[in-house]
Amino acid sequence: MCGIVGYIGKQKALPILLDGIKTLEYRGYDSTGVAVLNNKINAPKIYYAKSAGRINVLEEKIAHQKNGIDGFAGIAHTRWATHGEPNEVNAHPHFDCKKQIFLAHNGIIENYKELKANLIKKGHKFSSETDTEVLVHMLEDERNENPGFLLEEAALKVLKKIKGTYGLVIIDAREPEKLVAVRNFSPLVLGIGDGEYIVASDASALLKYTRQIVFLHDGEIAVLTPEKHKIFNLRSESVTREPEKIEWTEEIAKKGDFPHFMLKEIFEQPEAIENSLRGRLLSKEGLVKLGGLESVQDKLREAERIIIAACGTAYLAGRVGEYIFEEYAGIPTEVDFASEFRYRKPVFRKNDILLVISQSGETADTLAALREAKQKNILTIGIVNVVGSSIARETDAGVYQHIGPEISVASTKAFTSALSILTLFSVFLGRQRGMSLTMGRRITEELGKIPDLIKQILKSKDQIFEIAKKYESYNNFLYLGRKYNMPIAQEGALKLKEISYVHAEGYGAGEMKHGPIAMINKEFPSVVIAPSDSVYEKMISNIEEVKARRGPIIAIATEGNKEIKQIVEEVIYIPKTLEMLTPILSVVPLQLFAYFVGVLRGVDIDQPKNLAKSVTVE
Ligand code: F6R
Repeated sequence: MCGIVGYIGKQKALPILLDGIKTLEYRGYDSTGVAVLNNKINAPKIYYAKSAGRINVLEEKIAHQKNGIDGFAGIAHTRWATHGEPNEVNAHPHFDCKKQIFLAHNGIIENYKELKANLIKKGHKFSSETDTEVLVHMLEDERNENPGFLLEEAALKVLKKIKGTYGLVIIDAREPEKLVAVRNFSPLVLGIGDGEYIVASDASALLKYTRQIVFLHDGEIAVLTPEKHKIFNLRSESVTREPEKIEWTEEIAKKGDFPHFMLKEIFEQPEAIENSLRGRLLSKEGLVKLGGLESVQDKLREAERIIIAACGTAYLAGRVGEYIFEEYAGIPTEVDFASEFRYRKPVFRKNDILLVISQSGETADTLAALREAKQKNILTIGIVNVVGSSIARETDAGVYQHIGPEISVASTKAFTSALSILTLFSVFLGRQRGMSLTMGRRITEELGKIPDLIKQILKSKDQIFEIAKKYESYNNFLYLGRKYNMPIAQEGALKLKEISYVHAEGYGAGEMKHGPIAMINKEFPSVVIAPSDSVYEKMISNIEEVKARRGPIIAIATEGNKEIKQIVEEVIYIPKTLEMLTPILSVVPLQLFAYFVGVLRGVDIDQPKNLAKSVTVE
């Protein structure tokens, strides 16, 4: 989704702003722009540049701009088009009729049409097709009607008239020592430096400058000058909030020696899972320690049903969680797309729990599902990576993933970390119920070995690359799995689609005969997840059915299985583990396969077309 950066302080704003939006590139965008306020001249003025396409196009444009772009305060934006094409005019920042107020916006203004009609009647001239532009003309209008208003007073008036979601940064040439930032259902964090402030849609853009962060809450307005900030809410009440120190290092948000963030994050999985498990496995006692759930442990003991709501890859982690919770904690579990859950009038029972899974903690549908459950007084739990994110703040309790920022649009380490945490949660719930000490020990011991087992799988990188070379020109794939690995078939297909733009379907292998088998032929390969587990024999039957129709097969199998080698074209081996833990291993070769097919087909892996990292609008 769009990215916002704002700066005010003692340094030249332009390089900081451009650097900031480059860090946010991974969120997905199609046009970009920057506006800088020169507050050190007699009549302070705002210079700006906008362009369609990538940030380097904007940089070239600025290099050729006669006036230059100079000043110590400014705002920048990467736009992911919603209203109006991704062209230069629709790119942010937007400005008022006199080009005195400039604003960048993430989110959607729902009632913009009527507001725009009103402003046009009053003589305002619009240049873009965006919903955002109304905001800046509304600010101008408030200023016209109330000449004494400060920028934040005008902003407050405007916010009371609009419906929608927004993260905003605003500068005004008439108040050159000020930057105003506003948050409502669209993330915005405030970094506090030494005599400077930097605001951004997510913390990764601030790491170079500061670790001291204030998370703005919905409905809050921050007024920043180089020396100080104040925050107030829509009721004009002043808000005091201590800054938090974030632990992420600048290096973790960089690619290092890897060609893409996706590959880096695939290789980070052993360490990411270790971090997710650190201090949480009490193997001797067959228990887990989840500090974030202690305050609600009595309620969890009484829980009679778990409902999991999430989107995309996080949803598929939830589907694995469903199998784990039912088999090991004995709790009925249902999983739904958050986007469906929020609209389908879910019927809650008293001892239900809603579990939301979200790497970013900002996914609009997941947040809405959470709010729906809260409204009905249902206990809400989160598995979230981004500390201080909306979902992390609004759930009653939760477990942080601690995997560092996930930059790649295609989620990898957040998925395997979520699976590890779901396993921890199943032991937590299971041991409150009938799970034996022996079983608790067994699961925690095996879970602790998972990082090393992933390291072994990563050694097959070259073999997987060779397989990808053989199959890169195929245009359709079927992914099959059963039980714990059914959601992994879907995840493998999802990865291939988003990273290589190749059509892929993920199916429960038992469903194959009910439709997809019609497509199988020698041009339609199947990726079959067949570890040596309780459904292995069934998977072999499915493999035979694909073979009988001359479909090429790539199998994921357990080390030592020689039989499967005789019947399929390719085998990628994964080490032996408990059946419930195989998804954490079997997904790794599928991530690498999708990555290599994407690379071989020339896809821009870290910025796949049309996708955004953090989906903060519906
Ligand atoms: C796929 C992918 C998405 C996300 C989904 C939810 O690779 O990354 O499907 O999993 O948008 O995002 P979060 O976990 O941030 O709620």
